[in-house]
Amino acid sequence: GLDSSVGAIGDDAVGANARRWSVDRIVPVVGAGLAAVSYISVSEGACREAGVPGTVGPAWVLRGATSYKRYTESVEQAMLDAVQPALGRPEAGRAALLPITTSTAWWELPQDARRAIFEETSHHIAVGLEYLPAVARQLCHGRDLGEPFDFLTWFEFAPSDESRFDQLLARLRTSREWEYVEREIEIRLTRE
Ligand code: HEM
Repeated sequence: GLDSSVGAIGDDAVGANARRWSVDRIVPVVGAGLAAVSYISVSEGACREAGVPGTVGPAWVLRGATSYKRYTESVEQAMLDAVQPALGRPEAGRAALLPITTSTAWWELPQDARRAIFEETSHHIAVGLEYLPAVARQLCHGRDLGEPFDFLTWFEFAPSDESRFDQLLARLRTSREWEYVEREIEIRLTRE
């Protein structure tokens, strides 16, 4: 629900509970990019609206909410639970925010066909598990909120694990699942 929503806000005054990250780079991977900003604040809990009276508003605001699992089976969930780290580890000074939208063709597939592409063909979970516990992650959904991005994917890792994260991204992007990605932006961040 919205209580666990994430708002990533480019260049705005930050709220009390927002975590602020400075932007290392914003790369448009597939489709249109986003305006350059020098930092983003990531808020959990109450969704922040853009703009503070009397000040200039943020360059952009992205929203997503945590949701139920679409594809993860119980054996996979148990494997993930055994190794996945929490967000906010002190050593995880780097992050990546990847807003992603998938095509109508993807959403029109039956559930079992999507699951088969996601895991049996693309091995998303099996590949991802190789990079745990180095990478902490959070998946938020924007599609049902009417947001431009279907997903806001968020990852945190130590600077020394950044090249491993690069390798994970490269592997996922060559998978069958990624043939359905019609917009993807890569935002790399350092904790302030
Ligand atoms: C979905 C695991 C890395 C993008 C999922 C799901 C799992 C998962 C379990 C399914 C959630 C569900 O059942 O609904 C992992 C693990 C990773 C990883 C363990 C290792 C760090 C990544 C990366 C990206 C990414 C690097 C982006 C570049 C996505 C997206 C979805 C997803 C977009 C939603 C797929 C959909 O609903 O169509 N991931 N993931 N993941 N992941 Fe990952």
